[in-house]
Amino acid sequence: MKTFSTIKALREALSTVRNAGNTIGFVPTMGALHEGHLDLMRRALKENDCLVVSIFVNPIQFNNKEDLEKYPRVLEADSKMLESIGCQYLFAPDANEIYPEPDKSEYDFGLLSEVMEAAFRPGHFNGVAIVVRKLFEIVEPETAYFGEKDFQQLAVIKQLVKMLEMPVKIIPCSIVRETDGLAMSSRNVRLTSHERQLAPNIYMTLQKAIKLRNVLSPEELRRWTREQLEAIPEFNIDYVEIAEDQQLQPFQHWNDASGAILFVALFLGKVRLIDNVRIF
Ligand code: PAJ
Repeated sequence: MKTFSTIKALREALSTVRNAGNTIGFVPTMGALHEGHLDLMRRALKENDCLVVSIFVNPIQFNNKEDLEKYPRVLEADSKMLESIGCQYLFAPDANEIYPEPDKSEYDFGLLSEVMEAAFRPGHFNGVAIVVRKLFEIVEPETAYFGEKDFQQLAVIKQLVKMLEMPVKIIPCSIVRETDGLAMSSRNVRLTSHERQLAPNIYMTLQKAIKLRNVLSPEELRRWTREQLEAIPEFNIDYVEIAEDQQLQPFQHWNDASGAILFVALFLGKVRLIDNVRIF
């Protein structure tokens, strides 16, 4: 695997790859890699000649200083994992390389900007959009892979690519979970052992909720899910939402949506966890 920290050197290497007629699959990450990330990468390797992974803890998408400071940074271990799956190119720049000066771009994602993560983490998706646009411009991949773990982020990226008419295909990938159901996340390592034991209750509750779809209205199911989660005092809920699967807007009757996702975001101690399941 070749590792690059500068845009110039990476661009040079990738232009050789491209000139030889090879396709590039891209997986942007913030590192502290786990099986969820690796799943995206294995798929990218299968579907492309060459895999480029970026590891960059993007400061402008954090709206919480402590979250940014405590975000795990383990480049050496990450590199080993990437080697082991056969990744060819790692781009691991520092903040000055990506932001020699502040990028003041502002994106309007319409309705997507009003709900859930956008409402609870002001500026977050604008920061994500800026860095993903920059990374796409640098790597110029045919295809890029994103996890449904961050369902709203995926929707935002699809809209960004459409708005800017970027020539990249976005591939959604299913959520990878621990054997006890907890959605894998780089932040999970920050849970205490007690919190880690409580965390699988999130997915357990979401699974039970799916089964109640035939007996409860969307609003009743939101309330039921919230009550189940609130029964665990360590859970501090940001939101429980049921939304249609395109613009992620809440709705009142099951017939109002052609696809529906149940979303949850909560704090467990100091760690913010998100998860979602498709209801239909
Ligand atoms: P990060 O949280 O490192 O996630 C990188 C990619 O891995 C995202 O597409 C995310 O949805 C996916 N992912 C994380 N955990 C997953 C899981 N358990 N199952 C499936 N996919 C999973 O998301 C970001 O970084 C950043 O916002 C980024 C897009 C890199 C921009 O900075």
